[in-house]
Amino acid sequence: MLTSYYIILSFLSMVFPHQTLLQAEDNWSIRIESEWDVLGPFPIQAREQHYLSPAYPLNLSEPIDFARSWPSSYADNGKVGWTKADLGPDHTLNISFPQIRRVFWNSLRKSEGWAALQHHATLRSTLTIYPPSLAVQDQPPRLFVSLKQGSYFCLRPRHQSFSTFVPQWHAGNIYDLETALPIPVLLPFDLSTAEPTKFDLFVSGDYEIRLFGDPWARLSEIPVLQLSIDASFRIDQHTSPVVRVSSQDVKCDFVAGYAFGDYLGIGVQSLLGWWSVKNIHAKSEGIQLSLPSTVDIAPTQTRTVPILVNQDRPFFTEHLSFELVLKSDDASITLSVTLPIVHHTSITYQQGSQVVEATYLSENAAPLAFLAVSPSTPNNHEPDPPILALHGAGVDIIGNMREMWLNALPKRPRSWVVIPTGRTSWGLDWHGLSARDAWASLDALKAIIDHFEVTEVPTSYKIRSNDKVILMGHSNGGQGAWHLASRYPDRVLAGTPPLRSSHALSSGLISNYSAIPAAGYIKSGHFIDPVLRSILESSLTPDDNDLHLSNLVDVKILAIHGGEDENVPVWHTREAISGLLSWYPSKSVIFKEDPRQGHWYPDVLNNPSVEGFLDYLNNGSDENFLQKSFTLTAANPQECGSLRGWSIESLKIPGRLGRIAVHEVDWHHLRAETTNVFKLRITGNTKPMQVEIDGQIFYLDGKHEDFVVVDDGTRDWKIHAPEGQARRAPPGRIQALLSTAGLISIVISDTDMQHELSAALRIAHTLKLYHRLESEIITEGAAFQRNHFGTWGSGNVICIGKPTSLFVQDVIGKRWTPIRVSDDGFTVADHSFSQRGQALIASHPMDHITFMLLLVYNDLAGLERALRLFPFRTGIAVPDWVVLGDGVDKVGAAGVLAAGVWANDWQLSGPMTWFHH
Ligand SMILES: *[C@@H]1O[C@H](CO)[C@@H](O)[C@H](O)[C@H]1NC(C)=O
Ligand SMILES: *[C@@H]1O[C@H](CO)[C@@H](O)[C@H](O)[C@H]1NC(C)=O
Ligand SMILES: *[C@@H]1O[C@H](CO)[C@@H](O)[C@H](O)[C@H]1NC(C)=O
Ligand SMILES: *[C@@H]1O[C@H](CO)[C@@H](O)[C@H](O)[C@H]1NC(C)=O
Ligand SMILES: *[C@@H]1O[C@H](CO)[C@@H](O)[C@H](O)[C@H]1NC(C)=O
Repeated sequence: MLTSYYIILSFLSMVFPHQTLLQAEDNWSIRIESEWDVLGPFPIQAREQHYLSPAYPLNLSEPIDFARSWPSSYADNGKVGWTKADLGPDHTLNISFPQIRRVFWNSLRKSEGWAALQHHATLRSTLTIYPPSLAVQDQPPRLFVSLKQGSYFCLRPRHQSFSTFVPQWHAGNIYDLETALPIPVLLPFDLSTAEPTKFDLFVSGDYEIRLFGDPWARLSEIPVLQLSIDASFRIDQHTSPVVRVSSQDVKCDFVAGYAFGDYLGIGVQSLLGWWSVKNIHAKSEGIQLSLPSTVDIAPTQTRTVPILVNQDRPFFTEHLSFELVLKSDDASITLSVTLPIVHHTSITYQQGSQVVEATYLSENAAPLAFLAVSPSTPNNHEPDPPILALHGAGVDIIGNMREMWLNALPKRPRSWVVIPTGRTSWGLDWHGLSARDAWASLDALKAIIDHFEVTEVPTSYKIRSNDKVILMGHSNGGQGAWHLASRYPDRVLAGTPPLRSSHALSSGLISNYSAIPAAGYIKSGHFIDPVLRSILESSLTPDDNDLHLSNLVDVKILAIHGGEDENVPVWHTREAISGLLSWYPSKSVIFKEDPRQGHWYPDVLNNPSVEGFLDYLNNGSDENFLQKSFTLTAANPQECGSLRGWSIESLKIPGRLGRIAVHEVDWHHLRAETTNVFKLRITGNTKPMQVEIDGQIFYLDGKHEDFVVVDDGTRDWKIHAPEGQARRAPPGRIQALLSTAGLISIVISDTDMQHELSAALRIAHTLKLYHRLESEIITEGAAFQRNHFGTWGSGNVICIGKPTSLFVQDVIGKRWTPIRVSDDGFTVADHSFSQRGQALIASHPMDHITFMLLLVYNDLAGLERALRLFPFRTGIAVPDWVVLGDGVDKVGAAGVLAAGVWANDWQLSGPMTWFHH
């Protein structure tokens, strides 16, 4: 097997004196100075972070004045200057600010709340690359940087003029996610082979309460930002241009000799050049492996190659071996792969439950894993509904926290417990694509059991079609249970979420470590127009659990919270329950407040009360107690399911809340009043009924057909006549791009290749790291071909281009939105944006499933600004379209030039559009 190796030179440089490195024989080498300059702290709101320059308050196109001080409300006299910090031999940096008075942090907490501890600092050191002293290699080295718990880093060459420098920011691994790969850095020039090349290495250090917690929880009064950074080379000369990356593999266990899932995934990275995985040769007997499609890999990109497994007989060998064949324009490479296999002898297990790792192929064409805990009693009793157990933020259920989480869950005689990953240990806080992974893992388990070939599956092991699920979760997973139950109430039998916070819930900002800044989008943004603020914030309301509480009318809830939670105060669950009871005063909600318990205790979910509640749920539903009136709420209909068969299909004004208040006059007569609903659907009609919508009466024949009505704008409801497949509705927020139904394609131009390739690779890296989303990078030429032959896949598309890009012109030329381009810039409905530094990030229609994300930029600085808004994390407020100018670097969202949520027809929405002039 071909291997690559890393040389961690910053480590060597600590061990050997400086000179030793200079004498290194024939290797390139790197050194990061251990002395760091630190500028900060500056107060920052989490949601503002991605609008501001990561170098805030610096402008990296100018030299740094180390004597200067800057306004910061944390410091005495309101000013901070530069200080120093040391990089340890373990590559860690601990940043605190002794010049800020200890007592100040505490008094601040009293007046402003702990959210006020959230801050930003800009860090700087020197990174030097030394050329080999002897033989000059023909291939330049590839630089890789690992940054943990820092939000961004960039390199600024010292030998160039700063005034023309545009920083290329790379997103770090801020959550310290499992299986993170070092980030490839494409240098925009060839390194000198004659002398060392020096760079300023800048890191954006952001103390997010969500990540680092309340310092009190660490028995400290002052917040300490801890991060780690390292740089390395992979030397190409001795290495294959393509390498295996086993940390990106996805594997399933084998049960009775058969794979528990149809797919495996194999991590492959190109260190150099463009490659395609074309073929696979199985080397083990009795198992057929095939590639569902060719997998294209851009230079430095890592892909997980999906492999379809077929068996006509059981496979019991400890290892599975095969070869992958890769081709480039002029070469071919074979990678040998050997995977160790975990075998279970039978689907049932004599000593209670067993835990099986399973896989499925997600819509994004990426194989994903999940855990399934079998029922403990194999017999012929009817099964109980499955339990979906959602883990807390940062809990890697496939890796080192597997046992902890498994031990925390109840084992049931006749229920499977499905433990999804949410794609990664943080994912999107069980919203969006992480929610889809939860449902898809459940569907996948049902399919695996239904098709399980060898042994008879006992009845108690089946999963019935349309079975409702029981949701359960802790911490961020408790929030996730709350989220899924209130968005998909008809799929949920009940929830047992240990609830977390209403405020923290509403911002989706909860973690193992802490709850978070309450509400307030950009509290510090004194500059921001209130109307702009509401438009930006509308991209976050679909995540707000408190707004969707009304949907929990039928969900039976056992809420659990430690009475002395040091992390998410118990007050939050009390608030959530009182919110629910103000909707439905007679609803029964069980709240188990565990006195003297903190955030986590091993039996939080695994105890007699939970068991008793599960027994009660499995006893069958008591429909007699259904409330006569209920309200369905949807902030974004595309991210909500039905409630008692009712669903909101689209809104009159997307971006505003939609509601339907339904009252059961009697068994056959329903009366509904709508707010901001354009189209609604009622499914599962099994009895004849009279339905009154805003005073208009309809009769349903009860023959199961969906009843769909639209309002023509004057509260005149009409039966909806289905039309052909139209273009999909606007997503409302850019983050919906992540909920893609297939591989994401990133289109870059053929002419501005270098910088756009770097941008595309950075997006691809972030998608993979944060969400295990697969993407391919293609050029405009290939994109035109796909247009011509109609060969786009089912995935969303990201298109990066200048106004002069032919592909951008072609897309925009369809005039499906009010965006236009010209040679000197772009316009949105006659507002022209032709200045340097400006850029547009916008959703654009494609077909009935997919949409395109456009990043149109006037210059490189503009492109970099638009890239920062690519919303790969929760809480980055980006509605359907935003125009940015250079002001955002300094004043955050107040530097936005225009923004909006599209109307249903992709045109400007009167109420949800904002221009700065
Ligand atoms: C230089 O590279 C070779 C492999 O080419 C490696 O064996 C050696 O350890 C490296 N030397 C240093 C000082 O990194
Ligand atoms: C930073 O703090 C961590 C945890 O206390 C410690 O392991 C690490 O060595 C520290 N690093 C430095 C440079 O002091
Ligand atoms: C979450 O909390 C538990 C218990 O305090 C701890 O063991 C675990 O390491 C924490 N998770 C992370 C990601 O820090
Ligand atoms: C389940 O239902 C039976 C009969 O209706 C009742 O006796 C029993 O108490 C119920 N169990 C629970 C846990 O609610
Ligand atoms: C940064 O500095 C450069 C050079 O002085 C200037 O052209 C540019 O406008 C500045 N950027 C911002 C956002 O102020």
